[in-house]
Amino acid sequence: MEKIRIKGGRRLFGEVVIGGAKNSAVAIIPATILCSGVCRIENMPRVSDVQVQLQILKEMGAVIRAKDDTTVEIDARPLSNGRTSYDLTRKIRASYYLLGALLGRFGDAEVSLPGGCNFGSVRPIDQHIKGFEALGASVDVRGGYIHASAPEGLIGTSIYLDKVSVGATMNVILAAVLAQGETIIGNPAKEPHIVDLANFLNVMGADVRGAGTDTIRIKGVKSLHGGTYSIIPDQIEAGTYMAAVCGTGGNLLVKNVIPKHLDCITAKLEEMGAEIEELDDAIRIIRRDPIRRTNIRTLPYPGFPTDMQPQLATVLCAADGPSIITEGIWDTRYLYVDELRRMGANIRVDGKVATVDGGTTLSGATVRAVDLRAGAAMVIAGLMANGTTTIEDINYIERGYEDIVGKLRRIGADITIVDEPPVKAEIEA
Ligand code: UD1
Repeated sequence: MEKIRIKGGRRLFGEVVIGGAKNSAVAIIPATILCSGVCRIENMPRVSDVQVQLQILKEMGAVIRAKDDTTVEIDARPLSNGRTSYDLTRKIRASYYLLGALLGRFGDAEVSLPGGCNFGSVRPIDQHIKGFEALGASVDVRGGYIHASAPEGLIGTSIYLDKVSVGATMNVILAAVLAQGETIIGNPAKEPHIVDLANFLNVMGADVRGAGTDTIRIKGVKSLHGGTYSIIPDQIEAGTYMAAVCGTGGNLLVKNVIPKHLDCITAKLEEMGAEIEELDDAIRIIRRDPIRRTNIRTLPYPGFPTDMQPQLATVLCAADGPSIITEGIWDTRYLYVDELRRMGANIRVDGKVATVDGGTTLSGATVRAVDLRAGAAMVIAGLMANGTTTIEDINYIERGYEDIVGKLRRIGADITIVDEPPVKAEIEA
């Protein structure tokens, strides 16, 4: 029963080094299934979702070697079929990338319906299925599994996604790289991790063009080989530390980032009163003036990311006036608001819109991480609050943030992990 305990009120100073992008890693690991050689992957984030994804491949027969803390070699040649472990694949959302990769390699895939963060609504995968079917697969769901099969192989085609979806875009790319002929994806997602997956596949011999633009063209190739690839830095981890400094005040150098990927986040933090300096592969953020109110609308990249919405809503609790947040990706992503209210936040939610009253000094309380980014928001709230905050269910936070406690402690936060035994009733024998 590990919890995070924070004594709030300290400003943050110094340097933090950002890890590799979790949302890239969880797609690139399954992508190695398509490669007929050893893939050496550098800048691998040390987070639990990545560990689960690696373990899934290991249980399927892949040979996986850790070369150092952040470098892993994966040889997926020994895999013999497209079956996966029900229990492990159910644990994370990104296990759905196994569908595209296994379908591409074996023409057959069986993966349990994915788990992961609950944003208060069902997370559909109809666009992934539409893509697989367009490529010639038949897909059905039974016994908790999604089964996709194309015994005659996949054939390239044009697919127009009805909704901009990161997962569907990546999954169609994975399925299409070894298909016969050309696949064209219209209305794809453009997130940096889409480009990262395409770059990884191209280094291994694929022909994927246009990732990051309005049309992606994939010419099927006969096989992929092994090689070495370094994952891009995690824009959301970087944004979370920047939001924390905006909340507490201070001066932080955020290292190992691609500043361009952070444009929409830096623009918003500047509106809120932070001073930001972009360097080659680092960003300095300073916040000395009061936090200013703003409005936020989350959108697909290059718009403001939904995965930064809870963190900035938390900071805006202390702004100089009310802010309006409109969630443009998920039907609702405000389950964390009840937890922030325990700390004194005044936030009204009406469907996709939340109004955050500013002018609140949060006060420490015991709260839960209801999902990954909501957990990050609770950490920021604890850093900003008067008094002590205890965060429960921190396994959600560990899914996407490497050593968050150590990194924050090194920049001045009073934060620790505490291990409390579960409650045991005092009943006489
Ligand atoms: C990924 C990220 C997640 C982030 C999200 C949006 C990973 C592992 N997770 O999730 O952190 O919040 O992108 O940036 O990378 N949709 C459909 N049908 C589909 C697929 C999606 O209607 O088949 C809808 C969803 O309900 C949502 C929107 O499209 O409203 C975007 O979802 P999508 O981009 O697919 O999110 P994920 O890939 O699951």
